[in-house]
Amino acid sequence: MEHRGLLPGLTQSWTLLALGATTLVITWLLYVRNSKRPYAGIPVLSADRNEYLQNGRGLLERGKELPSCFQVQTGTNWKIVVPNRFAQELKNNPDLSFNDAHARDSFTSYPGLEPFREILENDTFIQEVVRKKLTQSLGLITAGLVEETQLTYRDLFGESKEWKIRVIKTDVQDIIARLSSRVFLGLDLCRNQDWLNVTKNYTYSSFEAISELRSHHALARPIMQWFSKNCTQARLYYKKAQILIQPVVDLRRAQVKAEGEGSSKISDAIGWMVECARGRSIDYAAAQLSFSLAAIHLSSETMTMCLLQLCDMPELVEPLREECRKVLRENGWTKQGLQEMKLLDSFMKECQRTRDLLATSMLRFAKVPVKLSDGTVIPKGSTLMVMNDWAHSSEHFLNAEKFDMKRFAKLRERPGEHNQHLFSTPSADQMGWGFGEHACPGRFFASNEIKIALCILLLEYDFEYVPGDEPPQDVKFEIVRLASPSTRIRIRKREGDSIPV
Ligand code: HEM
Repeated sequence: MEHRGLLPGLTQSWTLLALGATTLVITWLLYVRNSKRPYAGIPVLSADRNEYLQNGRGLLERGKELPSCFQVQTGTNWKIVVPNRFAQELKNNPDLSFNDAHARDSFTSYPGLEPFREILENDTFIQEVVRKKLTQSLGLITAGLVEETQLTYRDLFGESKEWKIRVIKTDVQDIIARLSSRVFLGLDLCRNQDWLNVTKNYTYSSFEAISELRSHHALARPIMQWFSKNCTQARLYYKKAQILIQPVVDLRRAQVKAEGEGSSKISDAIGWMVECARGRSIDYAAAQLSFSLAAIHLSSETMTMCLLQLCDMPELVEPLREECRKVLRENGWTKQGLQEMKLLDSFMKECQRTRDLLATSMLRFAKVPVKLSDGTVIPKGSTLMVMNDWAHSSEHFLNAEKFDMKRFAKLRERPGEHNQHLFSTPSADQMGWGFGEHACPGRFFASNEIKIALCILLLEYDFEYVPGDEPPQDVKFEIVRLASPSTRIRIRKREGDSIPV
């Protein structure tokens, strides 16, 4: 009798033990499957993913000493780091996929990250809208950008001639969010605080979410994405974007239908997307947020870096002001005028060279084995990125360690090089826009937008670091450099320079 009573208990324990063992084996198998080995034949520089996550830029500095490619364990996978000298031969290689590489690093299948999927998976829709519509409308949108910049500055910095202390990065994010929204969504939504909050907060929470996911093991990600604060916020802002965008899309669709394609007098991204959709099923809220992702994050970092440079070297301010004044007097806010701001263009490019946001460029996935000219074979299924270190090398730039605002303006004075060395021109020795077929299509817009914002700030305001504050330190992780989020400046309205609109 006693034995009979024990049996069910024993069977239960054995079942639990078997279940536990099976779970352990499955977890171990998944772990092994997800912890891929390094690729054969390419030197391993670091197998410690934390080293990459915390100090990827320092790691790459060490790798520069090696004669050719090397590999590092990153948050997501092994990546092959290719020296800068191979950028030219890889730039248009059809066997290297931009989309596959970024999709693997950005977790595009997770809910809330649909805008990343929209850039990467919906054929080349966003790229087409940017190349064919945005870039070709630059002339039409300048006046709107000038007006919006002045209004935004008035709202943020006011009209007082007394110094006002501001946190620079937050203000620049507000400026760029508003300017970009004016172009992407038009007057209806660009001053709508709900939309501005959604567009800014989605951008930041989604990038944070991706960074956080990368820092966890692949096995943990599918679960943690449901609990992580950043992922939850990305889902929430994406939902809010859908609610705000859909009525505008419906209205614009009806207009395009009534007036015919190309006839829209309203020049903004919703109209362009409706025209470019041509029967494709588009998630407009995701597409709109994908513009914000591309436009807000990197443009505001770039503009912040320019302002920090001006605070570091206040002697640069007056010559730039003088150029802006002269050009606007002679050309007004025309395409010609923006092109004539050569010193400002050169200054922006020098900032991008010296304060690079990304230490590597051209993240690509190899669809087949790719052989480099030195015989190295990039294996099928691997991800590569190209080092962006020529930008800091004295072999490529005279006195590379020195900030020379006139550097690129002087290069443009050489015979036949007048239209080269522009801020918006990607090149192998400065890959801030990427390089080759996938080089950033938004660079012409970003260049105009930042130029307009800087020019008006220079003419209308004085600004400098807050006296007594510590010099700001950039934030560095993986291969990224970002401006410190806490840096303060003081700013006041200047007497005098009137800006034509
Ligand atoms: C200063 C601001 C910006 C910087 C520094 C920047 C930088 C970049 C970089 C490095 C890439 C990858 C290129 C490669 O791997 O070869 C890229 C791609 C891209 N950028 Fe930008 N970008 C900026 C602003 C913008 C803006 C304003 C837009 C849209 C309006 C935009 C749209 C895109 C798109 C759609 C791609 C993907 C290109 C493709 O799939 O071929 N970017 N950008």
